[in-house]
Amino acid sequence: MTNEIHVSTTSSETIQPLSKKRLKRRSFLKGLGMTGAALSAGSLLATAGEASERSSITTVGDVAILRFLAAAEILETDLWQQYNELGGIQDNEVPGGSGSPAYAAAIAFLDSDMAQYIHDNTEDEMTHEVFINAYLVSKGAEPVNLDMFRTLPSSQATGAQQIGRLTNLMQLTVDTTWWTRYRSRTGNPDLGDTFPQAIPTLAVGQHTAIPRTDKDLNSTNFLQAIGNTAGFHFATIEQGGSSLYPKLAQRVTSSEVLRIVLSIGGTEIMHFQTWSDKAGNAKVLRDVVDPVTGVHVTFPNLNASPFGGENYQTNLIMPEPTAFLNRKLPACSIIRPTQTRGAAMGALNALIADGLFIGQSKEFFTFMRTLAIEADLAVRE
Ligand SMILES: [Fe+2]
Ligand SMILES: [Fe+2]
Repeated sequence: MTNEIHVSTTSSETIQPLSKKRLKRRSFLKGLGMTGAALSAGSLLATAGEASERSSITTVGDVAILRFLAAAEILETDLWQQYNELGGIQDNEVPGGSGSPAYAAAIAFLDSDMAQYIHDNTEDEMTHEVFINAYLVSKGAEPVNLDMFRTLPSSQATGAQQIGRLTNLMQLTVDTTWWTRYRSRTGNPDLGDTFPQAIPTLAVGQHTAIPRTDKDLNSTNFLQAIGNTAGFHFATIEQGGSSLYPKLAQRVTSSEVLRIVLSIGGTEIMHFQTWSDKAGNAKVLRDVVDPVTGVHVTFPNLNASPFGGENYQTNLIMPEPTAFLNRKLPACSIIRPTQTRGAAMGALNALIADGLFIGQSKEFFTFMRTLAIEADLAVRE
């Protein structure tokens, strides 16, 4: 894949002299016994000069990180587009599809603004994808294109476009441990902790998060189960983005790329916060059976025994403070996990486990794994 990275300035050419220079300046200041407070105007200018020099560098690692993020954003756009066609608002900002009023009503049980939020989340992902690819091009690097992998079927329900998709929303296994992870006051996956599923039946078997055909609109209970599944899946996707960006930010070299990663990553967190709030409004449903597959799903009352309390209470939508870096340090309200090692492959594997790529080709998995390996080889220089 090295032929895909055309970077005008490589790290070894530019970073080396920069660090030497910085080292020299540092030892010089130390020799004079100067502290930060006593820096002269001249030395501040030198710092500003270095900063702008650093911001204009694009390393091979930065390109690899941005390319993986561009691919992730294309995949996010593809899945959000499917939700918007049926359950969101179809307009000139987010075109495509004509809506499924019955499905949109099931989702609206969670919040009457759900259609607007789905639309806005979709639009955000589209802009993330387009921006990151345009930035790559502006730096002479190869953008990411997944068009050749748009082979998965669309929903046959009225309202969906009939086009090839990158992602599958009709056979999902939804990990809902983010619910208990963000409510834990002691656990952190970065310190080896694991968390129970909020909706255990969603985490096994395969569930559809959109109506597959208009027949799925016929049973009120099953349709609501589809709406509830979507409601939890929204947050499962966006909590992934909330962790992925801070994880990769730690290995970015250019301050401008860092700015991009921090700025886009923040909107993923805004999405997650919203969906984490709305999922708590999912309708309580006991043992609903998928009429096509026979798979069962139950959405328990998360505010009542044996649920409820700190681990499940639905209005605890802000991160509970928890252990961070080291259990000896005080608890802190944070995004978790944020450990950077293997971040890209971890994110890809989580999407695979979600069932999002069921039906995809071997070539797709090879392409995505290669992007992830390259991103995970990136080091902060
Ligand atoms: Fe995004
Ligand atoms: Fe996102």
